[in-house]
Amino acid sequence: MKLHLKIKRFNPEHDKKPWWGEYDLDVEPGDRILDALHEVKWTLDGTLALRRSCAHGVCGSDAMRINGRNRLACKCLIKDEIKNGQIVIEPILGMRVLKDMIVDMDPFFAHYRSIMPFLVNDTPLPANGRERLQSPEDRQRFDDSTKCILCACCTTSCPSFWARGEYIGPAAIVQAHRFIFDSRDQAAQERLEILSDVDGVWRCRTAFNCTEACPRDIKVTKTIGEVKDALRTGVIA
Ligand code: SF4
Ligand code: F3S
Ligand code: FES
Repeated sequence: MKLHLKIKRFNPEHDKKPWWGEYDLDVEPGDRILDALHEVKWTLDGTLALRRSCAHGVCGSDAMRINGRNRLACKCLIKDEIKNGQIVIEPILGMRVLKDMIVDMDPFFAHYRSIMPFLVNDTPLPANGRERLQSPEDRQRFDDSTKCILCACCTTSCPSFWARGEYIGPAAIVQAHRFIFDSRDQAAQERLEILSDVDGVWRCRTAFNCTEACPRDIKVTKTIGEVKDALRTGVIA
């Protein structure tokens, strides 16, 4: 089938403003958007810049706006996205564009690091000397948030983040949730204090864009709601 790919291009080193690159391709309906982008880069215009690594929805590096919605290019099939023979590709919003689809992820990862994304427990190891055991029920409590691959689809689809880039964003809150509700961790209060900041969890206005955008089907808004509840009630349950 024929595909007309419209890609927002921008190289701040020599473009004054973004422009649309237009490419016509022969593709299979079952090809992924990433395949089409590779075709452009490898056969039509080698200057096209994008990030990708695993090509299987695991590394989270190829988040982009596909027909106006944040998606991983390696997880979207052309037949599911094509409209009137065309697909429109743009970089994710709210981040500085370094080149084409490549955005500056440093602020995103700074927010991630700010919530202490690691297990904190300074008590001596249990008698077996090897591991801190946890019941299946306790593990289940934060199972959903362990699925996050830090792709930024959620944060960069959030209107509160677009309005104020200092907002810590849904991805960092999901990562905080993963440790706050871990029965082995001892730094939940510290993380909750960080998230109660003016640019913390209360900037979330329950827009749900994050949940719609998450390629791992994490219930992002629900997760954020649980963190808000813990802050409101002081109870981590
Ligand atoms: Fe990506 Fe989902 Fe994690 Fe957000 S919560 S960074 S959308 S995997
Ligand atoms: Fe934003 Fe998601 Fe809240 S889109 S406003 S973080 S529910
Ligand atoms: Fe790794 Fe798409 S290339 S998630």
